[in-house]
Amino acid sequence: MSAAVSKTKTNEGTDATARLWRNARLATFDPQLAGMGLVEKGAIAVRDGRIAFAGPETDLPSPLHSLETIDCEGRWITPGLIDCHTHLVHAGNRANEFEMRLKGASYEEIARAGGGIVSSVSALRAASEDELVAQSLPRLEALLAEGVTTVEIKSGYGLDRENEMKSLRAARTLGALRDVSVRTTFLGAHALPQEMKGDKAAYIDKVISDMLPAIAAEGLADAVDGFCEGIAFSPAEIARVFDAAKAIGLPVKLHADQLSNLEGAALATSYGALSADHLEYTSAASASAMAKAGTVAVILPGAFYFIRETKKPPIALFREHGVKMAVATDNNPGTSPLTSLLLTMNMAATLFGMTVEECLAGTTREAARALGLVDELGTLEAGKWADFVLWDIGQPAELVYRMGFNPLYRRVRHGR
Ligand code: NIG
Ligand code: FE
Repeated sequence: MSAAVSKTKTNEGTDATARLWRNARLATFDPQLAGMGLVEKGAIAVRDGRIAFAGPETDLPSPLHSLETIDCEGRWITPGLIDCHTHLVHAGNRANEFEMRLKGASYEEIARAGGGIVSSVSALRAASEDELVAQSLPRLEALLAEGVTTVEIKSGYGLDRENEMKSLRAARTLGALRDVSVRTTFLGAHALPQEMKGDKAAYIDKVISDMLPAIAAEGLADAVDGFCEGIAFSPAEIARVFDAAKAIGLPVKLHADQLSNLEGAALATSYGALSADHLEYTSAASASAMAKAGTVAVILPGAFYFIRETKKPPIALFREHGVKMAVATDNNPGTSPLTSLLLTMNMAATLFGMTVEECLAGTTREAARALGLVDELGTLEAGKWADFVLWDIGQPAELVYRMGFNPLYRRVRHGR
């Protein structure tokens, strides 16, 4: 059954997004309201791609009554889902390493033996920009089919100027090819490329003085990320990258405390990082620093599951300190070949004990916050972009509860 568009009322002027979505149940995630900000018998009025009103139908301001009406037939509406941490632009896959790990090799062993990220680097360098776009598009489409309206995409498999820029351009192209907002993150400090083996300092020099300025000059990155880990870069090396990002005016985020505790999350907060991500080994001191700095904890259960990590991120500590938590797929060929944000929420709940409210806030409002976009996206509130999803569900918990089932009815981005 399709939602009926009333034929009696016409759009205002040339604004094709001017509509009233009525007879809906809303999970607004409006922070002014309690819990998920639920509204029974709700409506969303859209004008110029933005939300003009979201709330109880009875509160709808009379000037908005004349909008063309869409009857949502009692369906639930949430904000558009936001996948705030992905490495979606990559070439090839690492199914062979998956088989090696099934025979007992660890992720770190494979990385130290020249596999891991470095093998994805060879594949990406060999692919043209068009091939990269073509290979990445089905992954993007899988996310969109489940209601994602904004996705963050990192570079980090190029590891030289030309190939990092190729990745970021491919990511931007994906955003132009499909109806989705793409945010790009420069992750030059992801791994040491083989041609620079033994000289991390010289590679960091290249990241800072060769890649970053060129990327910034073309406006190819919205943020800068790094991988702070024994198998990647030390806190001092990451600090050099963050100093350069700061000087150029780009916000930072960090792969922190994933395999060991280098107090990466605390380092990130000292740069006012938007987010610290992974966090399995994060300490109480770092959690407290995150709360003070407003740095979002991005929880990535796909990677935890796929590399069979046993140390869980300290969710209770984050709650205790009031750290905001986002949830993302971490889509990448090595540790999380996952393209379902719905399944990711189920994993966050089942593996880490996150609540339904935390999972759903984590893929909407808090994911927007982790991208520095919470004033524009992530909740159903007047003034924000009209990005939302209509679901065929009886209650919001069903979005977290099911595994491998997609109850999406309709996805709306910027009112369309
Ligand atoms: O988020 N931790 C570092 N980066 C990715 C893994 C990348 C890879 O193995 O290709 C992650 O888990
Ligand atoms: Fe990642």
